[in-house]
Amino acid sequence: MNTNTLHKTDYYIDIESRYGAHNYHPLPVVISRGEGIYLYDVEGKKYFDFLSAYSAVSQGHCHPEIIKTFVSQAQKLTLTSRAFHSEMLSRFTKYITEYFGYDKVLPMNTGAEAVETALKLCRHWGYRVKGVEKDKAKIIVCEGNFHGRTLGIISMSTDDVARQDFGPYLEGFTVIPYNDLEALKEALRDPNVAGFLVEPIQGEAGVNEPDKGYLATAKEACRNANVLFLGDEIQTGLCRTGRMLCCDHEDVRPDILILGKALSGGTMPVSAVLADDEIMMTLKPGEHGSTYGGNPLACAVTITALEVLKKEHLAVRAEESGELFREKIRSLNSPHIKLIRGKGLLNAIVINHPDKDAAWTLCLELMKNGLLAKPTHGDKIRMAPPLTISKEELLQAIEIIRNSLSCLD
Ligand SMILES: Cc1ncc(COP(=O)(O)O)c(C=O)c1O
Repeated sequence: MNTNTLHKTDYYIDIESRYGAHNYHPLPVVISRGEGIYLYDVEGKKYFDFLSAYSAVSQGHCHPEIIKTFVSQAQKLTLTSRAFHSEMLSRFTKYITEYFGYDKVLPMNTGAEAVETALKLCRHWGYRVKGVEKDKAKIIVCEGNFHGRTLGIISMSTDDVARQDFGPYLEGFTVIPYNDLEALKEALRDPNVAGFLVEPIQGEAGVNEPDKGYLATAKEACRNANVLFLGDEIQTGLCRTGRMLCCDHEDVRPDILILGKALSGGTMPVSAVLADDEIMMTLKPGEHGSTYGGNPLACAVTITALEVLKKEHLAVRAEESGELFREKIRSLNSPHIKLIRGKGLLNAIVINHPDKDAAWTLCLELMKNGLLAKPTHGDKIRMAPPLTISKEELLQAIEIIRNSLSCLD
């Protein structure tokens, strides 16, 4: 088929839908280029990116310094496997552990792999340090969680769509309501509990923020019960919520810190698990690994991506832009917006409309008007632009949102 004879967008969507699995429901837009906070489709139309690849592109698309490192390392060495040491892995381990203040790092690739790694590590610590009875370890998780898509992870999910017809599921999880300290304290009474895995804000569930003090009290309760606090900061971390880590808002230091997404500034899958020696040194050679985990290209890119976060003051910028964004959206006084919530530049608009597809309809209108955002869980639209967005650009984007809302009148 000749792309000139058809609308290019339709052409690419048709091909993808014929040959690609249908495990996503994307907006009908085909992106071919990204620069900073903008995306461009195959027709040449420009959009504000208000998803940032689910917070993976916090530094902006194709950040020049990150791409420079990427290209120069790609021309030098990309993969050795962990059968050999590499110069870049050595540099990366020192850099990232000093950056976040942990004894050790274990690099992986995707977020889900990092969560699986953290779960394995936590069980190991449970058996080898805490003294949990063999094969009885439990990890407490929260209703509404989203930690990825592997079998282990969906076993602790409470989302029917993510779980249905994928059983049998992995055992060893205790599910409690999110933001419920009493339920946590009750669950912690079980001596076989080794860890509590939590998102500081539930991103995928619609940017659910717990009450102030929840994380700090939960951490304290875990400490008192000799249970590890596992912070999944894959979406909330790396300046997204206005601090380097979302847990920093409450001065909480997770015992196991899980990072991903923006670690590479959106260039390639890089994830990492950080912990102190008492936990990390329970792992011995052969007990865990990944062919690509800690590859030299990922290590080089991650160092630059982390440097950019600090050099460009992205935490402060996220906090200031987030406040402005929420204030301006509130002041629209739109009857179609039930509420806006979030921290920093991780926000969600909850739509108020009798039509259950209203959030999707609004996203189509936003797309038409030059802004890309995606509904999450029906009536909520996540609003998470790259953290590099300027005040002027944010105000322009708000104007697009204001104009688009009229499609729900
Ligand atoms: C909090 C959280 N954990 C884990 C993951 C899984 O990351 P990945 O898609 O890279 O496997 C995500 C992805 O959205 C996430 O938001």
